[in-house]
Amino acid sequence: MRTSPHDAGGYDSRSFVAEFYDFVPAYSNRPDAAFYLDLARAAAGATLELGCGTGRLLIPIARAGVEIVGLDRSQAMLQRCRQKLETESEAVRSRTQLVNGDMTDFELKQRFQLVIAPFRCFQHVLAVERQIACLRCVRRQLAAGGTFVLDVFQVQAARMHDTAFMQESVEFEGVALSGGRTLKRTFRTAAFHRGEQYNDCELIYYVTKPDGGSERLVHAFPLRYFFRYEVEHLLARSGFAVEDVFGDYDRSPLADDSPEMIFVAKAAG
Ligand SMILES: C[S@@+](CC[C@H](N)C(=O)[O-])C[C@H]1O[C@@H](n2cnc3c(N)ncnc32)[C@H](O)[C@@H]1O
Repeated sequence: MRTSPHDAGGYDSRSFVAEFYDFVPAYSNRPDAAFYLDLARAAAGATLELGCGTGRLLIPIARAGVEIVGLDRSQAMLQRCRQKLETESEAVRSRTQLVNGDMTDFELKQRFQLVIAPFRCFQHVLAVERQIACLRCVRRQLAAGGTFVLDVFQVQAARMHDTAFMQESVEFEGVALSGGRTLKRTFRTAAFHRGEQYNDCELIYYVTKPDGGSERLVHAFPLRYFFRYEVEHLLARSGFAVEDVFGDYDRSPLADDSPEMIFVAKAAG
């Protein structure tokens, strides 16, 4: 099993990754925002977001009056988040704190009523011992009665082996960037590693300039996939009791065709 800087998803390895993140329609339209916002509002205290990135969820949560700490390993993603926070009110800014750190090895003084690991950031943690290290850090950060919510995608079997996924498929095109540039993105699986439960993924950005010139930029990273009971076992080994498993952000139960696996857990015992 490879453990390298790529183990954090490669968000810092190329500057365009953080630059383009907020332009990706599938991210800005992702249907998880209301789900996480409701959880944060309902929690009787502060929230910690692991892998907060550019603040897609962190900023709306702070706007809703909730104190939130965002932890991320990528300086570039945090820098985007900081820039966005500069345009927010003083009240919103005062409710946020950004920490550059690794979700598999962190300790904060504060304890939290809610810890969230949204948008599959846990899938960037490849090795079992690091997954458990992450969950134990989370367990230590939870206040009494606090809740931990983690999401990963539910695996579609073909995506573990079907070579059709090695061809680039277009996700979006024609998105306007600054300076008259436009952005297109494709996705492909570069390699399958079924024995170790991860795929080498490539998100490929094509930037077209006003003069017609273009650039092809590749964000390559390994992505771990999980099965339902594997996550339940990991949580149990790390001191959690699972309270709910949802299959989507509408809180529907996990079913064969659910796109997500969302685990809601409390400290065991
Ligand atoms: C898919 S993005 C999600 C960002 C944000 N939560 C959102 O929903 O838009 C995953 C984030 O996890 C961060 N990340 C990956 N591995 C990490 C690690 N080991 N520790 C902390 N952050 C990590 C990346 O830097 C990236 O910002």
